[in-house]
Amino acid sequence: MTLGFEWGEEMRITIGQLMKMKREGEKICMLTAYDYPTARFVDDAGVPLILVGDSLGMVLLGYESTIPVTMEEMIHHTRAVSRGTRNALVVGDMPFMTYHTSIEDALRNAARFLQDGGAQAVKLEGGETVAEKVRHIVASGIPVMGHLGYTPQSTYQLGGPRAVGKSTESARQLLRDARALDEAGVFSIVLELVPAPLAKLVTGKVSVPTIGIGAGRDCDGQVQVINDLLGLSADFVPKHARQYARLADIIRSAIAEYKSEVTAGNFPAPEHSPTMDEGILAEL
Ligand code: KIV
Repeated sequence: MTLGFEWGEEMRITIGQLMKMKREGEKICMLTAYDYPTARFVDDAGVPLILVGDSLGMVLLGYESTIPVTMEEMIHHTRAVSRGTRNALVVGDMPFMTYHTSIEDALRNAARFLQDGGAQAVKLEGGETVAEKVRHIVASGIPVMGHLGYTPQSTYQLGGPRAVGKSTESARQLLRDARALDEAGVFSIVLELVPAPLAKLVTGKVSVPTIGIGAGRDCDGQVQVINDLLGLSADFVPKHARQYARLADIIRSAIAEYKSEVTAGNFPAPEHSPTMDEGILAEL
């Protein structure tokens, strides 16, 4: 990527650079991170966009959906991720009902991601229905990423994770939503569980990068939940994900080995505790 700076210098990716990547056909890689050490790994790897997704409700906090996730939880994790990054642009995911009730609420909560969380942008779900809020947030100087297709905060309305845009009416609505977000000033749009040909069409129709998750290769970029990619969510691999590692197996076997060494009295070894002058011991 032509960044205009060396990766590792204290310089952040800008939304202008992401727009340039779209224009030049350079694929944009985005990953979620929820804590400091993971953010460091992702940033060091040169991933330009890090999403502190409200998926943390499920993959970190054990909730059934993203609905219970609070602003406080999101800010706490966003702050940790921001501390772990130098170059990536950090996007904080606005939780359920923090941008729906009023423009004032949307502005106040979006601002907290930058002021308290150290993020550079926010993401929110929805199209035409949230466009007005998006316009106000953008006008206040906060970059906004949109999110269309399957929108997890509407999971109870949608009936769980499912493809969006398979019928003529729903495909037309997706296009209208994407145009509304584009016009409202978003700097990119996540497309989740959208048929690949429709995602390709949307990508050609909007001026900003589309970032796909289960939406085919023709989006301008891709995003994955890092726990899926690393094989941390042991029992479940979503259809849109590819496991690049199986860390759950490694973690299980490391814990089992530790437990068996402690039980057998083989851990700790002498080198795991401080030494002491034997003379002092004799004086006690
Ligand atoms: O919360 C999240 O991680 C997301 C991605 C799946 C795009 O919204």
